[in-house]
Amino acid sequence: MKIGFGSDHAGYELKEILKEYLSEKGYDCVDYGTNSKERVDYPDYGKLVGEKVAQGEVDKGVLVCGTGVGISIAANKVKGIRACVCSEPYSAMMSVRHNKANIISVGARVVGEDLAKMIIDAFFSAEFEGGRHEKRVEKICSIED
Ligand code: RB5
Repeated sequence: MKIGFGSDHAGYELKEILKEYLSEKGYDCVDYGTNSKERVDYPDYGKLVGEKVAQGEVDKGVLVCGTGVGISIAANKVKGIRACVCSEPYSAMMSVRHNKANIISVGARVVGEDLAKMIIDAFFSAEFEGGRHEKRVEKICSIED
């Protein structure tokens, strides 16, 4: 699986850690920046990763900003994106099982490194359940039209 990463300056360090973590697990990781702690605007990176996922250039995305909120809001403006901010593994798992989330977002100022890894693990080991959830996800998609 190919995973696109994006962060702002606040999420830069955690993004690097998570990228290395998933690379070691054998995922193909593509980094769309930012590449330093120099101040940048999180919408630029949320939009970029959202577009890469929506275009199919990568299969899923990982976003990190201070709270995980701003960058996920930006990504969710891209058609076809269901980005979820998660601060614990249960929601991360359910965001895929029920909501077919295609981007996980975490807050570097909210969760520690180990918890972030658990959240990421929960997200990437989950599978969409389909069934009754399919129609609900279709309803979400129809809002975009
Ligand atoms: C940057 O200071 C901060 O606003 C940003 O990382 C994020 O938390 C926004 O949602």
